[in-house]
Amino acid sequence: MTHSQSNILTFGDAEEKDRRGQLFDLFKNCPIPADEIFLNLGLFLTPQTLSRILFIDFLYRQILEVQGIVIEFGCRWGQNLALFSALRGIYEPFNRLRKVVGFDTFEGFFKTSEKDGNKVGPGMYSVTPAYDGYLQRLMDLQEKESPLAHLRKHAIVKGDATVRIKEYLERNPETVVALAYFDLDLFEPTRDCLLAIKDRLTPGSILGFDELNDPVTPGETAAFKEVFGFHRWGIRRYRYNSRTSYVVFDRS
Ligand SMILES: C[S@@+](CC[C@H](N)C(=O)[O-])C[C@H]1O[C@@H](n2cnc3c(N)ncnc32)[C@H](O)[C@@H]1O
Repeated sequence: MTHSQSNILTFGDAEEKDRRGQLFDLFKNCPIPADEIFLNLGLFLTPQTLSRILFIDFLYRQILEVQGIVIEFGCRWGQNLALFSALRGIYEPFNRLRKVVGFDTFEGFFKTSEKDGNKVGPGMYSVTPAYDGYLQRLMDLQEKESPLAHLRKHAIVKGDATVRIKEYLERNPETVVALAYFDLDLFEPTRDCLLAIKDRLTPGSILGFDELNDPVTPGETAAFKEVFGFHRWGIRRYRYNSRTSYVVFDRS
């Protein structure tokens, strides 16, 4: 495990790093004309990146008959938000109530606790300045590719998610949570956000997790254990992706 240039944890070996560098060079110098490049993005997917996209699709398909919104806690560059939004366009283009809401500091971790182990620290997973504005513009445009484009069905909420989620739920008291994806990596914010949405889950709601059972970021598991315990629901995995898990909220 190493810290990459942009201060994230990576797990590949030197050969993989070299291969990814070569792939990036091919991407940067891609000869495909601009008006065809988005049609061919699959050229640059690796099994790992594709399996994450498949996982997001898998989660989304499970909430098609569950009322409520989709939340990502810890959206960072926002790929999952864009995927959720595109999946809404595919599977339920007229579901105007299926909002997609992303929370992030957009400044990375600002504090860690002893339950988070010694591999993570403040400042990790930061993004470039004013990235939330860029993501907002991107999501606005992306939403226009699907029906009901005149209704804004997404929100990007900047700041400490533990504070912002409570404000969001006060402003939107009707909120039911159909799917919440947790990728905050850390104990305290994961625990507090789980507690904040607990009363908004309904049987069939899905909770997705990026790091359960991962010794590198033990805080996420500790938070899940503290709020829900291990025995109530099965912690399942999507067989094509190694690190992620999900639980189906059944009853409290
Ligand atoms: C591993 S990254 C998320 C990656 C992203 N979900 C993806 O799939 O690419 C973890 C994110 O959690 C965010 N984060 C951690 N603690 C937070 C908090 N208290 N409030 C808001 N965001 C937080 C960080 O800023 C960081 O962007």
